[in-house]
Amino acid sequence: MKEQIEQLQEKALSDLQLAADLKALQDVRVQVLGKKGALTEVMKGMRDLAPEERPVVGSLVNTLKDQFETRFAERQAELQQQAIAGKLASEKIDVTLPGRRAVLGSKHPVTLVSEEIVDIFSRLGFMVEEGPEIEQDFYNFEALNIPKDHPARDMQDTFYITDDLVLRTHTSPVQIRAMLKHKPPLRVIAPGTVYRRDSDLTHSPMFHQIEGFLVDEKVTFGDLKGILTHFLREYFGEGLGVRFRPSFFPFTEPSAEVDIECVICGGEGCRVCSRTGWLEILGCGMIDPEVFGSVDYDSDKYSGFAFGMGLERIAMLKYGVGDLRLFFENDLRFLKQF
Ligand code: FA5
Ligand code: MG
Repeated sequence: MKEQIEQLQEKALSDLQLAADLKALQDVRVQVLGKKGALTEVMKGMRDLAPEERPVVGSLVNTLKDQFETRFAERQAELQQQAIAGKLASEKIDVTLPGRRAVLGSKHPVTLVSEEIVDIFSRLGFMVEEGPEIEQDFYNFEALNIPKDHPARDMQDTFYITDDLVLRTHTSPVQIRAMLKHKPPLRVIAPGTVYRRDSDLTHSPMFHQIEGFLVDEKVTFGDLKGILTHFLREYFGEGLGVRFRPSFFPFTEPSAEVDIECVICGGEGCRVCSRTGWLEILGCGMIDPEVFGSVDYDSDKYSGFAFGMGLERIAMLKYGVGDLRLFFENDLRFLKQF
């Protein structure tokens, strides 16, 4: 019996030492002191001993139990320490490593174009005005002499919110708002977002325009042509082909559209310019007396010109981009090039 206890003691203590983690340590404890543990078995066997042997064996068993508990506690503390150290080592943060740099954004090409154009006209004495993107019928159509049955009102082109509210289809309503706010003489440049039911290589349902207009005494079509030609030369350089083409707008008379040579094909004719070699970038004309009527300007005394240009078209030509929709796909590989 004594030998058995000594063997048990040796094995139990060495098992404690070998236990590699807290779970294994608990297992050793169960193997020794559990309901069916080795030492428990020994204690059960004491019933069969002679009475004089019992105290001797009992004392051995107690010593073993004490030793086991002491070693168990020591080993448990050791393993807990190890576990904490391991965790600290694996979760360590090296604060001396260089940080990750935030990627710097850049301006959208349409914003760049808008700022450059506004800048050129500011130097010519134009002031910036803005209007709402959700616009009343009166400003978007009625005051601009666009009668109820005009094709520009067709549901095909216009996003209606209610009978009386639309997503503005052009920046021309800013003309009306500015003329109601200020007395002539007046020079205004008005960049903004506009909406139409349109989508292809050169049309997008949401796009941007810049409206410009000037009202004063004795303004002529020659002034309009001069200012626009100055602008186009300033912006695109001297070499570019520009043409004025007669056109119609209800709010200008006479009216024209301006095309510039397609820079994608150099005027040869391609998909972007529908094989014409030219791309329309703006509409313009002399402000119709009807419009002056709706804002109470004296059309005998004052005359003026107005123009509205498509910013994406200009950005396409400036940067040689073949599809206008690229501007709105927000692909960083595209946007980073500007
Ligand atoms: C107008 O919007 C007039 N308000 C312009 C104007 C202003 C004329 C002042 C006279 C006086 P138009 O619908 O042609 O006109 O559009 C003007 C320009 O916007 C076009 O030349 C084109 O460059 C651009 N544009 C028109 N529709 C789209 C579209 N869906 N996507 C991108 N650009 C467009
Ligand atoms: Mg047009």
